[in-house]
Amino acid sequence: MERLSREIRSAFLDFWRRRDHRIVMGSPLVPREDPTLLFTSAGMVQFKKFYASREPLEYRRAATVQKCLRASDLEDVGHTPRHCTFFEMLGHFSFGDYFKREAILWNWEFFTKVLPLPIDLLRASVFEEDDEAYAIWRDDVGMPAERIHRLGRKDNFWGPAGETGACGPSSELYYDLGPGLGCGRPSCGPGCDCDRWIEVGNFVFPQFDRQPDGSDLPLPNRGIDTGIGLERLTMVLAGKKTIFETDLFAPIIHEIGRMAGVAYEGERKSGFHIIADHARALAFALTEGILPANEGRGYVIKRLLRRAAVQAHRLGLREPFLHRLIDTVIGEMAPVYPELGEAADRVRLALRSEEDRFEATLEQGLSRFEEIAARVSGGEAVPGREVFVLYDTYGFPADLTAVLAREKGLAIDEAGFEEEMARQRERSRASATFYRSQGEALEWMVLTEGPHSSFVGYDTLEIETKIRRVAAIPEASGEWWAVVETTPFYAESGGQVGDTGMLSSPAVAGLVLDTIAVGDEIRHRVRIEGGEWTEGVVRLAVDEPSRAATRRNHTATHLLQAALRGRLGNHVAQAGSLVAPNRLRFDFTHPSALSQEDLEAIERAVNEQVVADKEVHVHFSTYDEAIRDRVTALFGEKYDERVRRIRIPGASEELCGGTHVSRTGEIGSFLVLA
Ligand code: SER
Repeated sequence: MERLSREIRSAFLDFWRRRDHRIVMGSPLVPREDPTLLFTSAGMVQFKKFYASREPLEYRRAATVQKCLRASDLEDVGHTPRHCTFFEMLGHFSFGDYFKREAILWNWEFFTKVLPLPIDLLRASVFEEDDEAYAIWRDDVGMPAERIHRLGRKDNFWGPAGETGACGPSSELYYDLGPGLGCGRPSCGPGCDCDRWIEVGNFVFPQFDRQPDGSDLPLPNRGIDTGIGLERLTMVLAGKKTIFETDLFAPIIHEIGRMAGVAYEGERKSGFHIIADHARALAFALTEGILPANEGRGYVIKRLLRRAAVQAHRLGLREPFLHRLIDTVIGEMAPVYPELGEAADRVRLALRSEEDRFEATLEQGLSRFEEIAARVSGGEAVPGREVFVLYDTYGFPADLTAVLAREKGLAIDEAGFEEEMARQRERSRASATFYRSQGEALEWMVLTEGPHSSFVGYDTLEIETKIRRVAAIPEASGEWWAVVETTPFYAESGGQVGDTGMLSSPAVAGLVLDTIAVGDEIRHRVRIEGGEWTEGVVRLAVDEPSRAATRRNHTATHLLQAALRGRLGNHVAQAGSLVAPNRLRFDFTHPSALSQEDLEAIERAVNEQVVADKEVHVHFSTYDEAIRDRVTALFGEKYDERVRRIRIPGASEELCGGTHVSRTGEIGSFLVLA
């Protein structure tokens, strides 16, 4: 069955394409160029520079479907029929091109002729000083004056996204869900915070450029920035009263009910809504590599996950469930956002590890909270010290404790909590020991003593281990070398690049950007995404898709060497190689350039081995035995007494410490780019 939401996305893009708009891909959730923004919060974010540009633009009209995340709406999710943290925004934009009149008239056409929504249920609002927009609605659209509302800055002035950039007055289109949902106050109308009037379109007229000092300068390309929430529009068109009953959420809600074995009804609905919203946000954020952490973006993710876990607990779910529910989210959204499908394994893994971590303390934390709450009398605040213990020992983010407290009519002492946090940071700094490694500008902070750098990554891609020591990398702020007890990360060697992936614990989260070996030490280059180094267990997870790609290229390198020898002769010797996820390069000795026929024959020979789908055998022997068996070794390389042999029957056998596929068929295909 075609989903209504999908029809709306394509009808929208089609409409603006026919009005000469460039259809542009939505940008990532993590804004690349705006450090003042945690997440992409509107369609215009990727175009901020277009409005401010004084250079010629490649296009002046654009339309997008943009994935957005607004952590500021977190508190409302589950308490209103229309708020979510993650949502999709349909947007069309003009940068110094058409302005108010076209924007309003075209939108009127889209809303009342294309979708269409009944004219009688629509109302417009304009910024109170914007006579021009008012006149367009009244005279050009023909909307009765009593349905056009002049509202103040709070409702009808938008932006900027982040701290600086394009902003301006706006005009909004509201849909009337009927007096039954209204508050009944005489003043009730568009902009009222009851559930009757739902904003279905926000047409912003950006004309100012907000400066860091708060002043507004004229914008070089004043224009149009329209945002239409897909969830709300789908809801209205489907005749529903809440976004959670649209096709965007219903399959997720259904799956939550199935997993928990409880019906979606009554008071429980709010928990379903929170879980469904947070699951969508998590799927998209984790897909982009944001990890749960104690700061910044990662902290938003951690809060979402833990809030969802508490709601699930209340629905009776006692097992980690988000990593399973996420399959439904991905199944629904991957046809539109293929990146979700590609990252599915990684997302599941990250969720699972964070869920496991929280699961261990969730129940105890909840009962601890009950005890505390019983001691605090109504109207008082939960002391900062208690909020801190819930955070530090049970992993309850302060805002989760605040939610639990609010349900009991209590507040939390936020300032007291922050003081406790500051004290803890001081303590962990004071207790660390440091040493400077010889010949290097690195100062190591020792977190735990003990053996280190045991490599287990041939069979395992994810483990829990202890961090032994870390050192800030002087030339790269926020990046550290980390040495751990046991690691699944392959350190660069034999041409194979170092693994990448994630490192996370309740205290710290980071991306492993590279892995190298220095003597007997495996060093992980970690970019901290949030939190601070502390003693304790960390989870290390190798990025599976990259590793898999590297593996394919490494086995292909062996087949290539064998094919070169087969075609050109046994004098061919490896002079160097690079085995990376995206390609392999093989340098070898041979007196002349290769002919086109040679290249084709070599390519064919490798592909024949691929198609034969041979098993790749790994075994160990002494070095002398290997040489006796004429196993290919690198000339001049110093090998250990015990060597690792990679054999592809009838094709190749090499000494190699690298990672390989288990059957040659996994390589897929092989192409020489000479
Ligand atoms: N920027 C406006 C909004 O976010 C319109 O796209 O609502």
